[in-house]
Amino acid sequence: MAHDEIIDHYSALARAAAAGRVVADCGPDAFEDGCFGAAGYDDTSALPEGAVRAGLGCGNPVAVAELRPGETVLDLGSGGGIDVLLSARRVGPDGKVYGLDASPDMLALARHNAEQAGVSNVEFLRGGIERVPLPDRSVDAVISNCLINLSDDKAAVLAEAFRVLRPGGRFGVSDVVVNHESNPSRRVVAERRIGCVAGALPIEEYRQVLARVGFAGIRITLTADHGDGVHSAIVHAVKPEIGPGLEIRPMREADAAQVLTIYQAGLDTGQASFETTAPSWEGFTTGRLPHLRYVAADTQTGEVVGWVAASAVSARQVYAGVVEHSIYVHPGCQAHGIGHALLSAFIAACEDAGVWTIQSGIFPENSASLALHQALGFRIVGTRERIGQHHGVWRDVLFIERRSPSAENDSSGAGDRVQDPTP
Ligand SMILES: C[S@@+](CC[C@H](N)C(=O)[O-])C[C@H]1O[C@@H](n2cnc3c(N)ncnc32)[C@H](O)[C@@H]1O
Repeated sequence: MAHDEIIDHYSALARAAAAGRVVADCGPDAFEDGCFGAAGYDDTSALPEGAVRAGLGCGNPVAVAELRPGETVLDLGSGGGIDVLLSARRVGPDGKVYGLDASPDMLALARHNAEQAGVSNVEFLRGGIERVPLPDRSVDAVISNCLINLSDDKAAVLAEAFRVLRPGGRFGVSDVVVNHESNPSRRVVAERRIGCVAGALPIEEYRQVLARVGFAGIRITLTADHGDGVHSAIVHAVKPEIGPGLEIRPMREADAAQVLTIYQAGLDTGQASFETTAPSWEGFTTGRLPHLRYVAADTQTGEVVGWVAASAVSARQVYAGVVEHSIYVHPGCQAHGIGHALLSAFIAACEDAGVWTIQSGIFPENSASLALHQALGFRIVGTRERIGQHHGVWRDVLFIERRSPSAENDSSGAGDRVQDPTP
């Protein structure tokens, strides 16, 4: 369905709900079988009947977003407002909840329901979830109930969620996903049955898009099986935090000059690398993995204060989960925890991307970098003695690596993928 058709469809449901009709309300057994509605909630007693009657979700995101008093929350595709009203209760009078929806009829219904509930700490905004009408870093949690699957630009929706979240903010949504068992023709049948599945993402693709826009700590938990590979799911992710006034986000083309300046400043210390001159931007990006490049930046000025990036160590399949990284913090901003935060976010992104080993080389004299890496689980594999000359002087390099704990516990094992006996 095209965007306008989707909105018309929900507008018609909103008008039906406003006229007192039940638009989706099934008992808990039917809910388990795939009928969507307010039956997934266990705490609707204090809500106006009209809000419960208009519930069209596929789960209970309020229960998973761990909302706290005083927080600001955004509900993407707020419909009749059921999750906005439940969230408003959780964040209390010092908090605020925004509901965003593209259907004017749904917004009218939601405002009426909020009035009935006597709730004042809510605001309903008209707009598409692909372009959220809120400033950067203005909310603590983004929730959503059975909507992201409907969007034809999910990357834009997830990038917008990342943009409006404060560093440390949480993304906790109910959504519909498909697994590898799903095939397009069977999906259409499932779609007709539950009415809420158009364009659901495969689980792995959902994870990749979240990681690409900058999220870390990604967890996708299946909550109900609707058959034919279609599932309701709870999706959790976090915007990496660094400290007041700073954020970690994916590196962009526009960061090029600042990233290379910091690179050159690091090389000028003589302790970062055998290189003496930073490459061109083209040289920098060639070979560095696009989904594993992050910057730490000032949230007010946009000034980049550090970066981390990784390259694949080999094109061979057996080493597909092994990367080599570099991390540079502006010399004027060191010892403020920026390196620690950047490296932590990078490690989390590597875990999400299925990387099993991160490796690098460090000059033994660079004790700050060594301490940082050891604090975050890297070990020294060995010393490569007098491995190269730097300004005409032979130097040693410590070879370090971090093995992913989740790969350690993976019984399927990378070994199964090893076909070539040559290391
Ligand atoms: C499945 S309903 C879910 C409503 C609500 N979250 C609930 O649980 O009852 C989807 C809602 O998202 C709105 N919607 C659909 N596509 C949208 C988009 N691209 N941008 C904003 N709202 C959208 C619809 O108008 C509808 O109210």
